[in-house]
Amino acid sequence: MYALKGHIINAPRPGTVEITENGYLLIGDGDIIGIYPELPEKYSGTHIIDYGDKLIMQSFCDMHLHAPQYPMLGLGMDLPLLEWLKTYTFKTEANFSDNEYAKTVYSQLARELVDNGTTRVCMFSSVHTDATLLLMNELERVGIIGYVGKVNMDQNSDPCIEETTEASKSETLRWLNGCEVFGKIKPILTPRFTPSCSPELLSWLGGIARERNLRVQSHLSENLSEMDWVRQLHPDCEQYWETYDKYGLFKENTVMAHCVHCDERERKAMKDRGVMVAHCPDSNINLASGIAPIRRMLDEGVKVALGSDIAGGAQIGMLDVISGAIRASKMKRIQSEWQLDFLSVAEGFYLGTTAGAKYFGFGDGFATGDMLHAIVVDDSSLCGSNKLSVRERFERCVYLAKKSNIEAVYSDGIKIK
Ligand code: GUN
Ligand code: FE
Repeated sequence: MYALKGHIINAPRPGTVEITENGYLLIGDGDIIGIYPELPEKYSGTHIIDYGDKLIMQSFCDMHLHAPQYPMLGLGMDLPLLEWLKTYTFKTEANFSDNEYAKTVYSQLARELVDNGTTRVCMFSSVHTDATLLLMNELERVGIIGYVGKVNMDQNSDPCIEETTEASKSETLRWLNGCEVFGKIKPILTPRFTPSCSPELLSWLGGIARERNLRVQSHLSENLSEMDWVRQLHPDCEQYWETYDKYGLFKENTVMAHCVHCDERERKAMKDRGVMVAHCPDSNINLASGIAPIRRMLDEGVKVALGSDIAGGAQIGMLDVISGAIRASKMKRIQSEWQLDFLSVAEGFYLGTTAGAKYFGFGDGFATGDMLHAIVVDDSSLCGSNKLSVRERFERCVYLAKKSNIEAVYSDGIKIK
């Protein structure tokens, strides 16, 4: 048993940030016992890790990112989605047929995620089975938890990376067998997006999702040209989501990235099925895809969390993604002629922490019984910190803190930075 001492910041509900100044976050065997302003008498002998004037907050969940795109971070933002994929992305991902290269890149990526305070992920790999297993191994080694998917794509991509339908199926089975050695990193089925998968492959994936009770992640309604293409490929489907639904892939705990152009009917389908939206504001602006109607989705009861979408997004740190989501919501407000409300700092923080954590089975904020996922932020280098309230310091950290301010990271009850 031990206690972290400092200013504890907790976001149990959307829009609510609870602050316990000079408080104690009491931990049992890696699990949270509670937050206390004073340590109760019965815990008086507990080992205290004293973080002094620093901020202790929940660590982040990145609900959508592409590991093999890490080497192209900040590059090639001059094209819209479909051209961007063809010109840069598929070629970058093709390099992961080389296992040595994959191991080097993925160990750097895993470290970078931890250093930025991301401890839970829902991640795309590439089509390559061995590199995907290496990625899962690197994440598990540094102490990150979550889901990783070997990508399926058997059409409309690039010869350097495309699989045959048969190979896509057999490699998926080989990958699933290989995943059994992992404890904290689990497999998630990952058809890249509708255009890159044949109906035969989608149908097969839907079958094993059902048989093996596996989760699914993909992309939905990100870009208008992509949506036109999906309509041409599946004229029997009225909307994009139905191309997944037709094959049993649009279900509870499916994660759909982007959802920029989802109309009311598509949003209702997500709500009814329990599909989660991974909102990736930085990517949506970099690729000029559009701005997702997040305020509307939240008001309608759709599950939403945040993703960096590296390398469509150029920011791997989730604090940058959170402030980006707030900015994007304000652009949406301007576009709506001030009809739509924006996201508050507290709501943005909730989306980057608790909203994603629920996908992994966690409760509200620092919930009793949950394994500890936390960061310690030293904001003393940000000018004038000593003159601000803790709430003001938290607010400013959302906009200004960098990985260099993240002094410690706890994941699954273990200190990993
Ligand atoms: N749609 C299909 N593949 C991708 C990808 O790699 N990134 C993004 N942003 N959208 C996609
Ligand atoms: Fe993506």
